[in-house]
Amino acid sequence: MALREIVFLPEPILRRKAKPVTKFDKDLQTLIDDMIETMREAPGVGLAAPQVNIPQQLAVIEYAEGDDEEENEDAPPKPKKLFVIINPEITRASEEKVMGVEGCLSIPGLIGEVERHEAIQVKALNRHGNPVKFKLDGWMARIFQHEIDHLNGVLFTDRATQVWKPSEDDQTELD
Ligand code: NI
Repeated sequence: MALREIVFLPEPILRRKAKPVTKFDKDLQTLIDDMIETMREAPGVGLAAPQVNIPQQLAVIEYAEGDDEEENEDAPPKPKKLFVIINPEITRASEEKVMGVEGCLSIPGLIGEVERHEAIQVKALNRHGNPVKFKLDGWMARIFQHEIDHLNGVLFTDRATQVWKPSEDDQTELD
């Protein structure tokens, strides 16, 4: 495994629609493993292939479900869930939308408030090319929407109602 270099705005690849993955070969497996390592190292909660200069419909996401829920600070940390999504498609989206603060590894030094569907359903392929479906809500749904946007050349700043430079008090996870 190896770390990949994350590209930043205004790198044009971030603005292009990524191509569907068609080959589930060894190179793809290496890319996926590298992306997971790069996401963890950053650290981030998600990473899309265009962010490492690969114009393919692939993203990795790692987040502990329920992390956004208020809870007892003494409770043990929830286990993180790792997702690899290939050629993803949002098949259902709740009418209900929620605001949240997002950042992006490709747009350092800027965060913004973005409205997202509270819940979504996604169909995709896993790393072996087998179909998978996910029902997501809350912060997990937000991360998926952010990553799927990346595969269409869309960045959170396009959707943000306002953006600002984070202060030290802002603890926003990046993807
Ligand atoms: Ni991002």
